[in-house]
Amino acid sequence: MSDSSLPPSLHTALKDLLGPAGLLTGTDDTASYCTDWRMLYQGRCAAVLRPASTEECAKAVALCAEHSVPMVPQGGNTSMVGGATPDDSGRAVIISTTRMNRIRHIDHGDLTMTVEAGVTLKAAQEAAAREGLMLPLSISSEGSADIGGVIATNAGGNNTVRYGNARELTLGLEVVLPDGNTLNLMRRLRKDNTGYPLRQLFVGAEGTLGLITTAIIQLQPSPRSRETALCAVQSPEQALALFAAFRKHDPSAVLAFEYMSGTSMNLVTTLIDNCTLPLSEPAPAYALVELASTRSDDSLRTLMESVLEQAFEEELISDAVLAESETQRQSLWMIREEHAEAQKRAGASVKNDVSVPLSAIPAFITEATQRCEALIPGIRVAPFGHIGDGNIHFNLVQPEGGDSQAFLSQDHAIMDTVAEIVRKYDGSFSAEHGVGQLKTYMMPSWRGGAELATMEKIKAALDPHNLMNPGKIFPAA
Ligand code: MLT
Ligand code: ZN
Repeated sequence: MSDSSLPPSLHTALKDLLGPAGLLTGTDDTASYCTDWRMLYQGRCAAVLRPASTEECAKAVALCAEHSVPMVPQGGNTSMVGGATPDDSGRAVIISTTRMNRIRHIDHGDLTMTVEAGVTLKAAQEAAAREGLMLPLSISSEGSADIGGVIATNAGGNNTVRYGNARELTLGLEVVLPDGNTLNLMRRLRKDNTGYPLRQLFVGAEGTLGLITTAIIQLQPSPRSRETALCAVQSPEQALALFAAFRKHDPSAVLAFEYMSGTSMNLVTTLIDNCTLPLSEPAPAYALVELASTRSDDSLRTLMESVLEQAFEEELISDAVLAESETQRQSLWMIREEHAEAQKRAGASVKNDVSVPLSAIPAFITEATQRCEALIPGIRVAPFGHIGDGNIHFNLVQPEGGDSQAFLSQDHAIMDTVAEIVRKYDGSFSAEHGVGQLKTYMMPSWRGGAELATMEKIKAALDPHNLMNPGKIFPAA
């Protein structure tokens, strides 16, 4: 990972183009870009490029393409699936979006934000909030994840149940293609049937077709009232029944509906500071529900209380706590948001970001739990996630005190087991995290010949030399 791993003429040209702040070489400066946040994927790179504008980015990409140097786009580096980590050949450059970080415009009439790829999701949310608006995409890693990354991976998260994934919120895009040309799709139209919706190709493509530099995102008016409750339930069935009860009363009121297994909650309350269970005793599982409205009257409170009251009567829930202040609301959300961090602290884990039809969630969780427990005695089955979307993070944590490498050496066996049950219920093995480097070994059979072949044709048309984020999504050649 020294300067010499870039062809000398390319090194000189990139140095002239990007300046000292825009070109990092050498192990010390590039190491943190070469591994993911869990440090599960390790790669090497020839350099990290940090362009400060679309123009610089396009020129840098053109130079790399001329020299046949592979490029790995990287945003906040929060991928769960190694989507932004280079391989270990040391040939690729990482193109970091960090310095393209301006919020260009917030439009109150159109309800849009024009924003560069390197702005963190949290900074974008805060900018919208300062203007009385809401950017309705919320994920646990929003403090680091950036706009380019969340769009490239079609991130979902906590508000998908009401506002959809990043795809539904993305109106316009600007993308640097693998040959260095810039594709300007910066429209802010709700309706636009002028041929193929090209921008959709880049949403969720995980940087394999081009590098997103700027986006136009849909906003919403800020809610004036929110009601948030954490409920103790006996099972995923009960959590789903509670969701159905809220949906029946007012589907438009539900902003988030999250599930947490007792095992996963226990990791949070034992391993994360300032996270205590705000209920009288631990339960087999929990549901976190948030209602939100632009009305400022007390109708949401009435709705929350009446649904929970009925749920108590029907024994759907055994306990519940309602946030009485913004601080309490944030504490409830902190408990949910710390699940990924708690699982990281608990040792090695195998993540399965699965999606199944809502009705199949209880059977899926029961069967997958039994099969994984039979496969590895002592394994900690710690599912949680966006149950209102049918998206469960069916994560498995190593046995307590066990050997993490030994556990990880069984990751394929674990994922195969889970994938088989996901297939049985007609689900997907990636709901919102993407494919990245994970599980590509099973893509041929998983996707079906024609589906994979069509994706390969699109990839070949836009990136004939396989230079943009090679080794991701598609099975290794
Ligand atoms: C989350 O929802 O917190 C993350 O997507 C999940 C994970 O750690 O698997
Ligand atoms: Zn999630």
